[in-house]
Amino acid sequence: MLMDKKLKILGFAGSLRKGSYNKALLSAAMELLPEGAELEIFDLEGIPLYNQDLEHEYPEKVREFKRKIKEADALLIATPEYNYSVPGVLKNAIDCASRPFGDNSFDGKPVAIMSASIGMLAGARAQYHLRQTLVFLNMYPVNRPEVMVPFAADKVDGSGRVTDEKTRQKIREMLESLVAWSIRLGVE
Ligand SMILES: Cc1cc2nc3c(=O)[nH]c(=O)nc-3n(C[C@H](O)[C@H](O)[C@H](O)COP(=O)(O)O)c2cc1C
Repeated sequence: MLMDKKLKILGFAGSLRKGSYNKALLSAAMELLPEGAELEIFDLEGIPLYNQDLEHEYPEKVREFKRKIKEADALLIATPEYNYSVPGVLKNAIDCASRPFGDNSFDGKPVAIMSASIGMLAGARAQYHLRQTLVFLNMYPVNRPEVMVPFAADKVDGSGRVTDEKTRQKIREMLESLVAWSIRLGVE
């Protein structure tokens, strides 16, 4: 495993807006991948509000999301902080893919988390709320480094490129940790 094939990472951001700083973190991750990894970015746009009555007839967008999570060796989540927690967009997408009962797509996957905020606390509170959810999903989050990007408007340019070198370095280190962690977990 992984010695001769690349680690397949699926990334998604808890923001739908085009100019999202969290989407910018994912784009930076694409440029900063270690050699033994590949990254696909999945856009959560189009995932409907979760309704338990409909979980056995999910639309294609949700089925595609679940399929891609299952196919991935590891996940990468970039989340904004909304009102001191994760945005509904992200929580809803996670809820959808964790169901129906017995078909939790996230089960046993390694995951790394990043956050970007226009404020000083960098989405830290959202990250820790997200970590709580990951416990129930039975995921294995990377602990360090923590990628929390404060004052994101000063670190991402108008084209969505992360220009801050320290931020880029942290993302690089986190991806290296995700690969090492996945190998340690014996991801096939
Ligand atoms: C509804 C809402 C709630 C927000 N709450 C917080 C918050 O609790 N903490 C914080 O640091 N930023 C908060 N923000 C500001 C976000 O950090 C900022 O909008 C950020 O750019 C969102 O991420 P994005 O650029 O990936 O869309 C909030 C923004 C919105 C729209």
